[in-house]
Amino acid sequence: MSDRIYLSPPCMLGRERQLLLDAFDSNWIAPLGPHVNAFEVEFASRVGKTQAVALSSGTAALHLALQIVGVGRDDRVVTSSFTFAATANAIKYVAAQPVFVDSDWSSWNMDPNLLREYLQKCRIQNRLPKAVLSVDVIGQCCDYDSIRAICHEFELPLIEDAAEALGATYRDRPAGSFGDIACFSFNGNKIITTSGGGMLVTDRSDWAHQARHLATQARDPAPHYEHTQVGYNYRMSNLLAAIGRGQLEVLEEHVRRRRAIFENYRTALAGRPGITLMPEISGGRSTRWLSVVLIDPEKFGEDREAIRQRLEAANIESRPAWKPMHCQPVFAGCEAVGGAVSEHIFAQGLCLPSGSSLSPPQQARVIEVLGSSR
Ligand SMILES: Cc1ncc(COP(=O)(O)O)c(C=O)c1O
Repeated sequence: MSDRIYLSPPCMLGRERQLLLDAFDSNWIAPLGPHVNAFEVEFASRVGKTQAVALSSGTAALHLALQIVGVGRDDRVVTSSFTFAATANAIKYVAAQPVFVDSDWSSWNMDPNLLREYLQKCRIQNRLPKAVLSVDVIGQCCDYDSIRAICHEFELPLIEDAAEALGATYRDRPAGSFGDIACFSFNGNKIITTSGGGMLVTDRSDWAHQARHLATQARDPAPHYEHTQVGYNYRMSNLLAAIGRGQLEVLEEHVRRRRAIFENYRTALAGRPGITLMPEISGGRSTRWLSVVLIDPEKFGEDREAIRQRLEAANIESRPAWKPMHCQPVFAGCEAVGGAVSEHIFAQGLCLPSGSSLSPPQQARVIEVLGSSR
């Protein structure tokens, strides 16, 4: 059997090892240290914010972001249904209720028209939600011209879950620069990874200060341990920050490679009935973190699950696109606004191997197996 081809494995391209060893040799084997500080400065500058706080995960960043903008028990937070569960879970961590808005076809992200309609209805009923939590799904930004205008109109804070979109742009502005706070993930499958980790970014230094405070067990200034708030152990370690710095230096190369992989799939699959690829939003540049195809079973002659199993039999990892949150048993009973688009994407969407280190022969193998039923 040929070697396994993974969906999106880590790919070290630059000085990651050297920086990691530097952190190790300096004995800053600690939850904080010079690499954490440097990573924060470099990251903030890369995503166009003044403040960055390095954390243990993207989920931790979301949890803190929600608290910092003041979301609490029984508040409602409007978010995208088409996302990974971490987005919605974080809303539950603060005892709030997610409201799941469907995707639009142009970006697969939150549909601004549905968002506006929903908020208008809420305003009439005098029950506006507390915040909007947008998600830049699968490497691409939302329609932020519209979403930011809506948040402004309804005076709602915007939290941007950019966990999957580091390196993407919209109107030449980087993912993560659109929210009042934005969150990133460096989980092992992301475009750059620290094995596990996250980042919270904002332009507000008081919010960054609050995030650091909450992330270090909310220790008040005193020689002994003094606490007036419940805190968390959410900081990133200096070792992982060293890897993150090395990865960040080569982010653009990761984007270039992933976009090339996507284009190669597009060319190879062009003209095959029943296969379409994820769209790119007008004015935006997706990283193509994952290459996703939609399989129309009528036209293709096989559904996406049959293809997934065929790829698996050939030792190739692929995965259905996110199952929408409004269809997840754990979120049954939550409010949902529309849902047909994300349900369709889930029914037909398959994420293909997309790692930055995917070689041309490996990609040819994927394409061959994918097309071999026809
Ligand atoms: C959209 C989205 N939000 C949040 C997260 C959570 O990040 P982490 O795994 O670093 O906690 C992820 C991925 O893991 C994600 O895809």
